[in-house]
Amino acid sequence: MINTIIVKDYDEMSEKAAEEICKVLSCKKNAILGLATGSTPIGMYENLVKKYENGNIDFSEVKTVNLDEYVGLEKDHDQSYRYFMDFNLFDKVNINKENTHVPNGNAVDMEEEAILYEKIIDSLGGADIQVLGIGGNGHVGFNEPDDKLSLYTSVVKLKDETIKDNSRFFDSIDDVPKYAISMGMASILKAKKILLLASGENKAKAIGELLNEKAVTTKNPSTFLGLHHDVIVIIDEKAAKYVKR
Ligand code: F6R
Repeated sequence: MINTIIVKDYDEMSEKAAEEICKVLSCKKNAILGLATGSTPIGMYENLVKKYENGNIDFSEVKTVNLDEYVGLEKDHDQSYRYFMDFNLFDKVNINKENTHVPNGNAVDMEEEAILYEKIIDSLGGADIQVLGIGGNGHVGFNEPDDKLSLYTSVVKLKDETIKDNSRFFDSIDDVPKYAISMGMASILKAKKILLLASGENKAKAIGELLNEKAVTTKNPSTFLGLHHDVIVIIDEKAAKYVKR
């Protein structure tokens, strides 16, 4: 069941998203947060850091599990997702870094890393809330549109459009990794609650398909969220351009 909240802009989306995380933390101090990277959740993390600084939330017992990581970037590379999480959240709040999990994109055996990561998700009992962004092509995590989608954490080849989208963060498009390790669709759906965020017109087509069509298709992986019982979609007016109201 998907509940949709349409807000004015990115800032309002970010505030509302942080409030959803706070609701979970206020009920469960030792919640498991499923986290995402990319430009979309940065404002949500800023709001969470503010709430922490104001004494409104406490991360001391929180554990986290991130969706994905590029394959082949060192952990301290400024475009690695481990670096992103440390920079945007973990280094700014009182979380125990040992309780934070991001797939290791530099493991000697990436297939084994994927299996181990899925075991970590299971050992935590799944996320209490999983934050997701969405690609312009409907990808969630790095589950790209295709004939088949992976169920569990696996190594995935990035689509050319995703490499192009993400090249804005790198010096040149050739520097963007071609592979990533990502939770699969079943890994994502293990979360007790899912919070999907989208801002901007480049997300409008994928969001329109997700919210209007009420059907699943591997051509837009986000549509599988319709199978989950508790999804909140917070989108701004631009991302909601094609949503039937
Ligand atoms: C990030 C992730 C990706 C992004 C998506 C949107 O951990 O899994 O699915 O959420 O590519 O990226 P932005 O937010 O940069 O538009």
